[in-house]
Amino acid sequence: PTVWATTRGGETREVHAKSGQSLKDNLKRGGMDEILGLCGGCASCGTCHVYVADDWFHRLPPIQSDEETILAFSDWREPNSRLSCQIKVTDELEGLCVTVAPED
Ligand code: FES
Repeated sequence: PTVWATTRGGETREVHAKSGQSLKDNLKRGGMDEILGLCGGCASCGTCHVYVADDWFHRLPPIQSDEETILAFSDWREPNSRLSCQIKVTDELEGLCVTVAPED
């Protein structure tokens, strides 16, 4: 599916994502260098924090407790915050829009 990703500077890029892989891995492969993903995707670093467009947020799987713990530590938490490593891309996410959150 195609995912639209906006950098911290406001530049939106088209990312051709692969289903079955995390959104974090897809964004990194798509050249979104602001997504560091330092912990490798185990919901412990918070460097894959994104904001999900409001009309997409409720269509994603719910936040689990380890993701919630990390997001709660962020100074930049918003109601539409997610850790992109905890979102598995599926074909249903065609057109998903996310923005990279500021660095903590
Ligand atoms: Fe570390 Fe997502 S990659 S929390």
